[in-house]
Amino acid sequence: MDYAATGEQAQTRIDAASELDALEQLRVEFMGKQGSISGLLKTLGALSADERQIVGPQIHALRESVSAALAERKQALESAALAEQLARDTLDLTLPAPEAPRGSIHPVSQVMDELAEIFADLGFAVATGPEIEDDWHNFTALNIPESHPARAMHDTFYFPEHNDAQSGTTQHNASRMLLRTHTSPVQIRSMLEHGAPLRIIAPGRVYRSDSDATHTPMFHQVEGLVIDKGIHLGHLKWTLETFLKAFFEREDIVLRLRPSYFPFTEPSVEVDVGFALVGSKRVLGGSGDAPGHGWMELLGSGMVNRKVIAAGGLDPDEWQGFAFGVGVDRLAMLKYGMDDLRAFFDGDVRWLAHYGFSPFDVPTLSAGVGTAA
Ligand code: DAH
Repeated sequence: MDYAATGEQAQTRIDAASELDALEQLRVEFMGKQGSISGLLKTLGALSADERQIVGPQIHALRESVSAALAERKQALESAALAEQLARDTLDLTLPAPEAPRGSIHPVSQVMDELAEIFADLGFAVATGPEIEDDWHNFTALNIPESHPARAMHDTFYFPEHNDAQSGTTQHNASRMLLRTHTSPVQIRSMLEHGAPLRIIAPGRVYRSDSDATHTPMFHQVEGLVIDKGIHLGHLKWTLETFLKAFFEREDIVLRLRPSYFPFTEPSVEVDVGFALVGSKRVLGGSGDAPGHGWMELLGSGMVNRKVIAAGGLDPDEWQGFAFGVGVDRLAMLKYGMDDLRAFFDGDVRWLAHYGFSPFDVPTLSAGVGTAA
């Protein structure tokens, strides 16, 4: 048999293969288990030793050359395929990015970030507490004992009374669970956990059984608490003024402190902020007593009641403090001009697209905490 001629024929056919698939078929035809060259190798066993000396190297040489031809052709076809793909897949980096669905930051989240930024600059840390709270932290420790009228005012969502099947007793009232009605319990938790001195704000969700255009069963508050030595009302007023000027980005914010009552503060003050009536719109700034101006109630605050400081595990003869609580949703409405609180929680994408913020609008004191959407 003319092995050289067989080799040449194989080479011709391999060179003619124009696709990787066709080449693979040739490989199977020649070199596969049932392949022609594999078949030739199998004939060696039947030959005499002398014949094998002659034929053996020829078959092996044939096998080598066909194998090399297959590999070479395969490489050539693969590089051609790659080159063709590269030529086809051009990437124009100057084209605009495709329109992708974009989310937005909810105004409540944005305002909470603004508050954290402003108060961080004043040395306040952000504290949190559970939304499912117990009666003691939400009421009793804040000097709102059982049967106190303030409890009724809070329209509390209570969890069902828990009966202990084993002892047959009803759960003690202080551990009755509820949805926190305000962020004030975080005052107690922070004092118990960190002691004094203390400077925290505690933003978060609160719950009350109440619903109309300005009330939703869930809303947001931010609590502020400072505990230190020698703290007085002046510190409170300066802190609130500094905060509100930074928040509303107006130097002409004027506050009025009115005597009020909260069980957890003594004395208690309600803080009003002056506004100007522009058409039918209230624009914050200026004294509310000026002509065409008025006062708007904004937040509750006061010097922390001695009983609350004691409930926080601190000695009220040694430590004093002030606290305040304000609605975050209300702050957002005032700053960004929404008028219906319910829309905050409807999840309407059109509302979110209109009032929401870009994730790139990160509030910073240097860039301004109130960059509009
Ligand atoms: N917790 C009060 C509320 O929800 C708000 C408040 C008033 C908080 C006075 C305070 C404060 O810390 O000092 O109505």
